[in-house]
Amino acid sequence: MACLRSYASLAALGVLFVVLPGCGSDSNTTIQEPPTASQSATTSKPTTTAAPNGKDLFVAKCGSCHTLKAAGTTGTTGPNLDQQKPAKPEILSDIKTGPAVMPANLYTGADAQAVATFVAGNEGG
Ligand code: HEC
Repeated sequence: MACLRSYASLAALGVLFVVLPGCGSDSNTTIQEPPTASQSATTSKPTTTAAPNGKDLFVAKCGSCHTLKAAGTTGTTGPNLDQQKPAKPEILSDIKTGPAVMPANLYTGADAQAVATFVAGNEGG
């Protein structure tokens, strides 16, 4: 019964003749460039608006009243922050409320965060 086997292999070959439709169709030629997100990100932000520098901010508006060695300030109207060592949440609320003669809201938002982070991380110097 050798003929049965050859029919079987012919049938198997037949499967390979299935037409491959649209193979190599080149209708899809418009290659879209990705939006130039990186360009706009680098060009739209001047370096002056980079993350606020807590030390500079402290020197500008806090150092006249507060001593903080890390900032090189020696103000004596307010407490010496190297000695008081307030924690960041306390510093933030002090900036917001302005205890005693300290003006309220000297800094807000990202600036307040930057100053508080700087002070909390550099007390005791
Ligand atoms: C006009 C002077 C003045 C300026 C400017 C000033 N402070 Fe004060 N600050 C004070 C005084 C006075 C106190 C003490 C208030 C009290 O007796 O409760 C104080 C208290 C604080 C305290 C609480 C200290 C503690 O004992 O825990 C922090 C923190 C503080 N100031 C941070 C700042 C920061 C940050 C800035 C700048 C954004 C700033 N201060 C600007 C006068 C000032």
